[in-house]
Amino acid sequence: MKKIIAGNWKMFKDPEQTRAFFKSWKSQAMNLSNEVVFFPPTLCLEAAAQELKGTAVRWGCQNAYFQAQGAFTGENSPQVVKAMGGHYILLGHSERRQFFSETDEIIAKKAQFAQSLDLVAMVCIGETLQERDQNKTNSVLKSQLASCLAFKPVASKLVIAYEPVWAIGTGRVAQPEQVAEAHALIKSVLESLGLSGVSVLYGGSVKADNCVTLAGLPGVDGFLVGGASLEVESFLPIASVKFTN
Ligand code: PGA
Repeated sequence: MKKIIAGNWKMFKDPEQTRAFFKSWKSQAMNLSNEVVFFPPTLCLEAAAQELKGTAVRWGCQNAYFQAQGAFTGENSPQVVKAMGGHYILLGHSERRQFFSETDEIIAKKAQFAQSLDLVAMVCIGETLQERDQNKTNSVLKSQLASCLAFKPVASKLVIAYEPVWAIGTGRVAQPEQVAEAHALIKSVLESLGLSGVSVLYGGSVKADNCVTLAGLPGVDGFLVGGASLEVESFLPIASVKFTN
């Protein structure tokens, strides 16, 4: 299974800071065995594309619409992401769901359109703390997967990121058994949908000091990293982690 380490920069960094980061990254972090993907803010993608051109480092957009162009003020065209050299679209992050009212149905449409352009759709799913406390984790994950993947995706252009909402940006990483259990469930749902070979990443307060343990868990094929992806020093140990599962 392909191992992928993704950095989600959210709405941090400007183009100058983006260039500085990648110059430093290129001098320290080439030839990693894991695939490394960055999701800089949209306004920094041109800087990222220029800096990463000709390298094996992948990049993508944190959100893109399900149309190539048109009267959709404020949206991002996945066709332009593709033309600029991007490979990924991040979809369904809990912050998009929470602050921008993204539903599973919209995420499915965006994922389908991204795949139709040969882009990889990285689809995020995960339960809230309330849902976990009410023992609804499994049903929430199953339902999100069924709805987000209702369009019959192409397995080779799909990545799932399991991000328990309560672990994002909180410093509260999920317990190893919770991660292993969720990943096993996600893998079995993917199998039942006929999707094999799909990497399943864990996200939520991944740091240098917990990534080795997480990388040894069955079913964990990589990480989606927020805060710790903003500095080369904090992201490099995670990007270079060896998966022993
Ligand atoms: P975090 O964010 O690593 O800062 O918890 C993860 C994410 O939002 O993808």
